[in-house]
Parts: sequence; C-alpha cells; structure tokens
Amino acid sequence: MHIMRLFAVAAFLFALSACGETESLTDSDRVHAQALYDANCAMCHDTEGSGAPNRAALEKRTPAAILAALETGVMRQQGQLLNSDERELIAQYLGAKSAKVAGNMCNRSISSDDTPIWNRWGNGIENRRYQSASRGGVTLSNVSSLELKWVFAFPDAARARSQPAVTEQAVYTGSSDGRVYALDRETGCVLWTFDADAEVRSAPTLGTDSSGKTDYLYFGDFNANVYAVDARTGNLKWKRSVQDHPAGTITGSLTLYEGRLFVPMSSTEVLSALKAEYECCTFRGGITALDAASGKSLWRMHTVNAASRAGVDQQGQVAFGPSGAPVWSVPTVDSKRGLLYIGTGENYSSPASAMSDAIIALELATGKIRWWQQTIANDAWNASCESFGDGINCPREDGPDLDFGAPPILTTLADGRDIILAGQKSGMIFALDPDDRGKILWRQRAGMGGFNGGVHWGMASDPDTLYVGIADTPGNKGAVGPRRPGIHAFDIATGKPQWSRIEPFTCKERKFECETAISAPVTATDGIVFGGAHNGLLRAYSTKDGALLWSYDTRRNFKTVNGVKGSGGSIDSAGPVIAGGMLIVNSGYDKFGEIPGNVLLVFEPKRGKERK
Ligand code: HEC
Repeated sequence: MHIMRLFAVAAFLFALSACGETESLTDSDRVHAQALYDANCAMCHDTEGSGAPNRAALEKRTPAAILAALETGVMRQQGQLLNSDERELIAQYLGAKSAKVAGNMCNRSISSDDTPIWNRWGNGIENRRYQSASRGGVTLSNVSSLELKWVFAFPDAARARSQPAVTEQAVYTGSSDGRVYALDRETGCVLWTFDADAEVRSAPTLGTDSSGKTDYLYFGDFNANVYAVDARTGNLKWKRSVQDHPAGTITGSLTLYEGRLFVPMSSTEVLSALKAEYECCTFRGGITALDAASGKSLWRMHTVNAASRAGVDQQGQVAFGPSGAPVWSVPTVDSKRGLLYIGTGENYSSPASAMSDAIIALELATGKIRWWQQTIANDAWNASCESFGDGINCPREDGPDLDFGAPPILTTLADGRDIILAGQKSGMIFALDPDDRGKILWRQRAGMGGFNGGVHWGMASDPDTLYVGIADTPGNKGAVGPRRPGIHAFDIATGKPQWSRIEPFTCKERKFECETAISAPVTATDGIVFGGAHNGLLRAYSTKDGALLWSYDTRRNFKTVNGVKGSGGSIDSAGPVIAGGMLIVNSGYDKFGEIPGNVLLVFEPKRGKERK
C-alpha cells in the first residue's frame, strides 16, 4: 500500500545541488553514467509528482544504498535493464561519499538467560500494541519526565523503519541496507550485526525456549528471504526464500506461534505495471507457513486464484487477472479457535476479486480459508492509473486502493466474548465477530480516509478502549468528510466514540514539516497512548480524555552512541515501543517525500523525578 500512496504526494523539494561525483570517476565515466541516467532513470526521477525521489535526493544517498536499491531493493526491476558494471557506475556517480560505519562494539555478549519484554510488531500474537505498566515502566507518574537516554544512528540510511524487539539485555532492529543489529539496551553499544541480502523493514520476532529464554531471532527481507539467527550471537541458523513472484517482497513482520512462522507476502508489482509492455498482473498476496526449527515450508495460501488471461489491455496486449490482494502486515493468531487473521490490500488488475480489502480467517494448521469479510468490493488499482502513468495497465475499476494495512487486533470484552478490531485506509474501523464468520458487530468512521490512509499502519487497544491513529494526509482520493489527523478513542464493546485528539497543522504550508498525520501505529500502556507523526513529533496522550502529557520533537540532529551522524525526521511505518522503563522509537522516513532521518531514539524517565 505504501508504494501506492506515494504517487499522490507532491515531491519533496530539495534545492538542486551539484552532482555527487566521486574522485575515482574519469570524465568519460561521468559522461557514460549521465547517459545511463538519462536513458534509464530520468523519466521518473526528474519528473515532479512521479513519487520518485528527485535527483538531489538520490545524490544524498551513498553509492552502496543506490546499488542496493538497484540490485535487491525497490529499483531491482529497473536495475535489471543495466549490467552489473553499469549499476555500479551509476551508483558511484549519483551517490555521495560513504558514511563511515563506526565501531562502538560492546565488550560483553548476551547471556543465555535473556527474556523478551516487547516482542513482535504488536507485542503479542493478538497485535494489541499494549504494554502493561509493570512491564513497560513508563507510567502516568513519570511520563512527563521522559528524557533521551541514548541514540543510535543507522549508517548509510535515510529511513529507520524496523520497529525493535526488546529484551532485558538487548534491542534488536533491522535497517535499510539489510544490516540487523543487536544493541545493548542500557548503552546502545553493538553486541552483534548480521547482514541480510536486502532491506529489513519489519519488526524482528524473538523465539523463546521452553523456559521462556530468548533463543532465535526471525525476520524477513525485501527480497522475500526469511532468516533465523541465534539471538545471542547473530549466527545464521537457516535462511529460506518464500518468493514465488519476481516482484514479491516481505514488508510485514513474521508471526511466530507454536514452532511455526507465518510470513505475510506483498509485492512491488504495482510499480512494474507502469511499463506499457508489462503484462499486468500476476502477483498473488498470501501467507507462507514455515517450520521455525528448519525453515521448511509447511503450507502456502493465496488471497486470489492464479491469474489467467483476463483479456487485453488498452494496447491489445495480453492482460492477466485476478492479482494482488497483498498482505502488508503481521498476521494475528487466535489460539482458541486455531485461526490466523490477516488484512489484505487491493487487486492489481481486473477482475477485482472477493478477498481484496478484506479480513480473512484461515486455519493455523493448514492455511485453509474459513471465512472472509470484504468491506470494499471492486477495488483494483496499480501505478499506471496515476496521472504520470500512461494508463495502459490501469484496471477498469481504477481504485480506490483502500487496503487493510494495519493488522487485525484480537481482544476480549468484559463479558468474555472475543472480538476482532480492524482499521482501513478508508478511515473506517470495524468490530468483527470471530464466532459468526466475521459478521460486522459495529462500524465507525475515524477519519476521512482515502488513498493516503485513514488507518495506515496500526491501532492499539487496552482492555476497554481502541486507540486509532489517523493519517488523513491531504489530497486523498475516496475521502469522506473533514480531515481528522491525530488519535481517536472508541469503546471496544459498542464502538461509541470516547474522545478525539485532532492535531492541527503546525504551520501554514502543506509540507511534511507541518503534517500532523499519524500514519505510524500508536502504542498504549496503562493510562497513556503514544503516537508519532509525519512532522517528527512524538507525543503521549492520556487514555482518559486525550489530554497531552508529553511531547518531543524528533526532527533534529542528534549526538549518537556510535559516532555516525544522526538526524530524525518523519515517524512512519514503525511505532513506539514501551519496554523495561524505556520508550523506544524510530525516526526518519524518506519515502513519498517525507522527512529523511536515520535514528533509533531511547527515552527514559528522569530518575528521582516521579510525580505523585
Ligand atoms: C518507472 C519509474 C522509475 C524509473 C525508470 C527509475 N526509478 Fe528509481 N524510483 C522510482 C520510484 C517511484 C521510487 C520510490 C519507490 C518507493 O519508495 O517505494 C524510486 C526509488 C529509487 C531509489 C530509492 C530506493 C529506496 O530504497 O528508497 C533509488 C536509489 C532509485 N530509485 C534509483 C534509480 C536509478 C539509479 C534509476 C535508473 C537506473 C531508477 N531509479 C529508475 C521510480 C523509478
């Protein structure tokens, strides 16, 4: 979904700077590199409104980051049009001089009795994004004294989107160059690193042994590889590709449950469809289940049937469908019913199908689909539908692209009934009955929604209340009513709105520095809900009435424990983590013209500053 909304976002304007050529290139290298750029990149990267970072923004990246984008990242299909020498040359030519990777290695290692405090994307298989005060240690009496403890900067990075997993001893996180880090929780020194083949976007997941001690760390990369590494040492245990389509990727986190890993599958085929010659589209969203001990594949389910020739496109070329309905986020486990719940995105091509923009229940053991609840029918879209696309591969439905990007939440009401809570880019939230094939129990509008996200990445719930972060960035296709960026609270049992904290623009212009959109997931603990915004503001609100309790502007430069230049920017895609007396958040997000940055920020209440 994220890939999709970018096209509506105005390009972030950097002043054009001189090109970042490096000393080692000869004049003829530069001429050749510029010609390659003109022929292969300029049509998107020099076109305003195309959603691609502009030339100046590309030049802020290091050669390694550009090369990674072309070989294993989001540009890998464009990269295939060049040979490896050409890719390297263009990366050298465009990229700035490499940032130094500073050492700051710890002189200790992780002991065998470590235990998780915040684990998985949603801190539990039910994805509630809730932490009790006793485990979190950030409380109503100390929240106002939160201050920076340490800052780690990802070298060579313009975004920080891998939400950490936290244990008593370590903070585990991934990065855009594929490096996964175990950092000391107290000081931020580096315990170990592991290099995945491609970007690690998602929150790593920790496994535990029979006595509850951490054993392995699991994560997926942008090339759709899944890894299991020893959580103490970073040594690889196994690696397995789940890719069944050239554009396939992993964006969501993995769910670990009773020795099985459930891997959500998404793709970049919406971008492939920009090319008129591309025979759109054949990717199928779904879940692959792996044996956590060996990586062996156990089953795979798809959200659409295999695509067949569905007709011809507007050039008379073969078109395929159905396709798409990707799974962007972490699956939710219902241990009582033996089910897995997932949310899906839109179809990529015609015909639209039954399980796009839906919540689907499938059997944990087999992947067999039990029921689904589609909230928007006939949603098929890809990038060729946008103003800068030629429309040749645009399906006749032409949107509205209203995914379930946030995972469903499973929770229990005071009367003992279970309930599923789901939020959609449409700005709507839903309560579903797990005992009645996902029947909708209530629905409410939380934001105006649309193409750029109502509920984008996530919601949180405590035992009574659902907290909904709303993005509502301007310029949305399919929006209903006024913009309501901020946090909104709803009674879980009835859906009744409790309070709304709509955040006004922080300045007059429409740029990300002023944008109060909460696209990143929010996080709750007893009495407090935390949300981070596109403008870099990280805030704590009272769960009672939405009153502001604490605020911190992450959009600035930081002194870092690893000596790498660090700056914060937009908070997006990953949300705040509360664990062991710390609040941890990623800041910096360079997609869609948002504000780049490369830091992991760790806050702690000031000692001795408890308020009564
Ligand atoms: C068809 C249009 C198109 C072409 C051609 C294209 N790009 Fe891109 N590029 C994009 C878009 C759109 C994005 C943003 C994608 C995203 O963030 O999901 C992007 C992102 C990037 C990024 C950032 C990747 C990241 O991980 O954030 C780099 C680097 C890049 N392009 C380099 C290149 C180079 C070098 C070429 C030429 C060899 C090229 N691109 C050709 C559209 C294009």
